[in-house]
Amino acid sequence: MALDDVLAYLHAHRQTHVDQLCDLLRIPSISSQSDHAPDVRRAAEFCANELRELGLAVEIIEGDGLPLVFAQTAPRPDRPTLLMYGHYDVQPVDPLDLWTTAPFEPRIENDILYARGSTDDKGQFYAHFKALEAYVRTGTDLPVNLKFILEGEEECGGHHVYRFTEQNAEKLACDAIVVSDTALYNETTPGICYSLKGLAYMEIRVSGPAQDLHSGSYGGTVQNPANALAEIIAQLKDANGRCTVPGFYDDVLDLDADERAGFAKLGYTDDILRSETGAPAAYGEAGYTTLERMWARPTCDVNGITSGYGGQGAKTIIPARAMAKVSMRLVPNQDPDGIAAAFCDHVRKLAPAGVTVEVENLHNANPVLVPRHSPMMQAGIRALRAGFGAEPVFIREGGSIPIVGTFQACLKAPVLLLGYGLSTDNAHSPNEKFHLANYWNGARTSALLFHEAAGG
Ligand code: BES
Ligand code: ZN
Repeated sequence: MALDDVLAYLHAHRQTHVDQLCDLLRIPSISSQSDHAPDVRRAAEFCANELRELGLAVEIIEGDGLPLVFAQTAPRPDRPTLLMYGHYDVQPVDPLDLWTTAPFEPRIENDILYARGSTDDKGQFYAHFKALEAYVRTGTDLPVNLKFILEGEEECGGHHVYRFTEQNAEKLACDAIVVSDTALYNETTPGICYSLKGLAYMEIRVSGPAQDLHSGSYGGTVQNPANALAEIIAQLKDANGRCTVPGFYDDVLDLDADERAGFAKLGYTDDILRSETGAPAAYGEAGYTTLERMWARPTCDVNGITSGYGGQGAKTIIPARAMAKVSMRLVPNQDPDGIAAAFCDHVRKLAPAGVTVEVENLHNANPVLVPRHSPMMQAGIRALRAGFGAEPVFIREGGSIPIVGTFQACLKAPVLLLGYGLSTDNAHSPNEKFHLANYWNGARTSALLFHEAAGG
């Protein structure tokens, strides 16, 4: 049977496919650092070349920002079309000293591949390439039309792919959008994800005296920007761990009984959380379980805070400025723009007298919810079940993939969030990794999805 040939090809070429992924991982395509722009471009070209060799019509689309890669198989009207999304840019690598080996020199140990971008997202979308390769090289009829849209600005909040999607809905038209940039439930259980969090990312800047002051000469006579910022931040959450921004919870879609029962059945314990994170205890909004907080409740967190002296020993000053970055992870149906505006008002009201406070909304992402019981979901579940050899469970994600909401709105096609990574793969952290078993099973799953999406 033809599908067996495809799967046998994937099995036989496992090592080659790892070597090829390593070539892509050697490219330091860090999108937020402009000195790496040529590397981001090289990663785009790497992907474009490979898709071209597989016979697709490929375009590298230049525009405002870093390039997009768009590719498609020769369209055949009798087949459904899948739009495969991925991002070939990666996060910065600092703190470099915490990496066991260099982030762009892939290393394999115990069947785990270590490199920046291995799970987020090069390894995941490259699994789709290998699945397609298996059809092409075995001469197996591909039961779907495939389109690829790959971007290089996912990690830096760029706008190229949004504008392109809004202006090219026709070109991207499809029967389903497949996104592999999330996680399995755990090492032994694949998950089918049906919700992503949204985001409102804020910066608070507090300024006081014209420059740092001697804290003996002037301490106690002027407001201290660091103290003022701490006061503001301390009031962003109440004693129950709830965000105090007025109206914050108004549009939150509550979990239904089915979802709560499904989460509970997964058996995720606070011991697991402690061992995954190294945190001494679980914490969060009162009245919800850890999984409910992680996947379905909005959050408000400081991501970075700077002020004054942080060097060795003591230095006695009243700092002139203080700054914090705050993210609010949002859930369906919260509106990031409305929440960001409410946050700005709230922080200005919390600001104590004697300092100047500026609040800026740096970027937003819409939350995503997809129906759990569509035919495309069923196809995804069958593909995951056969690809990983285990029964998939429904999961949600605490992370965001900003373009997905725009795809839903502009392309009006169902979204399939088919993740091959693990939450513990150290995405955005030192020693990012990707389990080879998940790479290989991911490629199998993609190959099976092409079959299942066409009706099996
Ligand atoms: N792959 C992640 C999204 C993700 C994160 C999925 C965690 C599952 C769990 C993606 O590359 C990412 O990091 N997104 C950013 C978006 C932000 C910069 C707007 C995120 O969630 O922080
Ligand atoms: Zn990421």
